[in-house]
Amino acid sequence: MQWTVVLTLFASLFSSLATAAPSQMRALLMTGYGGAEVMKLGEVAVPTPATGEVRIRTHAAGINPIDWKIRTGKMQRNYGVTLPYIPGRDVAGTIDAIGPGVTGWKVGDSVVAVTSGGTLAEYVIAPARNVARKPDKLTFEEAAGIPTASLAAWRTLITNGDIQKGQRVLIHGGAGGVGSTAVQLAHWRGAHVIATASGRNHDYLKSIGADEVIDYRTTRFEDAAKNMDVVLDTVGGETLQRSPAVLREGGTLLTIVGMPPAQACSERKLHCPTPSTATREQPGEELTKLGQLFDSGALKMHVEAVFPLDRAVEALALSETGRARGKIIVRVID
Ligand SMILES: NC(=O)c1ccc[n+]([C@@H]2O[C@H](COP(=O)([O-])OP(=O)(O)OC[C@H]3O[C@@H](n4cnc5c(N)ncnc54)[C@H](OP(=O)(O)O)[C@@H]3O)[C@@H](O)[C@H]2O)c1
Repeated sequence: MQWTVVLTLFASLFSSLATAAPSQMRALLMTGYGGAEVMKLGEVAVPTPATGEVRIRTHAAGINPIDWKIRTGKMQRNYGVTLPYIPGRDVAGTIDAIGPGVTGWKVGDSVVAVTSGGTLAEYVIAPARNVARKPDKLTFEEAAGIPTASLAAWRTLITNGDIQKGQRVLIHGGAGGVGSTAVQLAHWRGAHVIATASGRNHDYLKSIGADEVIDYRTTRFEDAAKNMDVVLDTVGGETLQRSPAVLREGGTLLTIVGMPPAQACSERKLHCPTPSTATREQPGEELTKLGQLFDSGALKMHVEAVFPLDRAVEALALSETGRARGKIIVRVID
């Protein structure tokens, strides 16, 4: 009788730590640096979570520009990877195994997570501190669009920018993955939101909270946005260099693409936090707050396209066009 109880306890303990995953899984493998030809679907071993990690059965993975930028080889200084590398940093799925020392999660929990790679695969490992509960009201495909882009928007506009009601906020690239959440966060905070995009995205931007839109292809933003309190740049290059001119003295210049122009920041007494110094990175906590905003309806997720895993290369190619509205998603479980 006693042995039966002990065996039952063991069985229930084991089932709470792992499910019976296969030994091999399908994954998109990057085998070198270059174009689309360095990626192909292959089979690799299912990873095992180490201390402080969980394994997630991937339902859907979100695509970000960093995924194809890593493939080009131009990001090796900051984003060195070991080949073969499985691209993809964002995941929505179900916890499938739990490593030693992890508390607060159990097998079967529906979650979102941000990782340093590997989400374009049937299983992925994530540090437990990077995991949050999946918003109830979002599908797995929608939830997979949250992590990298919405974290970038949250950290710049809320953590670093601390934007306030009534402030005039200009968001460059308002229709992209980061821009879409940024426009909605600024609107949620009660700011007056001006966003740039090509004309085809203007109705979309107004539908998510932009008060004014600027077609950057026909209008210089300096002519249409003046005396701004805050600028968030998600485009970079010349757009970033021209941005100090539209800020009031003492305004805030936020960027996720490159470093703010130091001379203009100092001459115009601008607040120009750099992404690396100003953020308090607690991804799980931040994703939890973002998830609550998605569940409350304050934030909405626009999914531009969903590709199956065996067409993940096409998902990356669509991202590389730089024309995506909202997020591009790869569905891993059918
Ligand atoms: N540092 C970080 O933590 C971090 C995090 C996430 C992303 N990023 C970087 O931030 C950038 C944006 O990321 P994302 O995910 O938002 O990219 P994305 O989704 O690929 O952005 C696509 C959007 O950019 C818009 N766009 C392109 N050129 C534009 C211009 N000159 N002016 C205004 N809008 C323009 C497009 O709108 P139209 O089609 O209307 O032109 C499109 O909707 C990428 O370089 C990414 O690598 C950095």
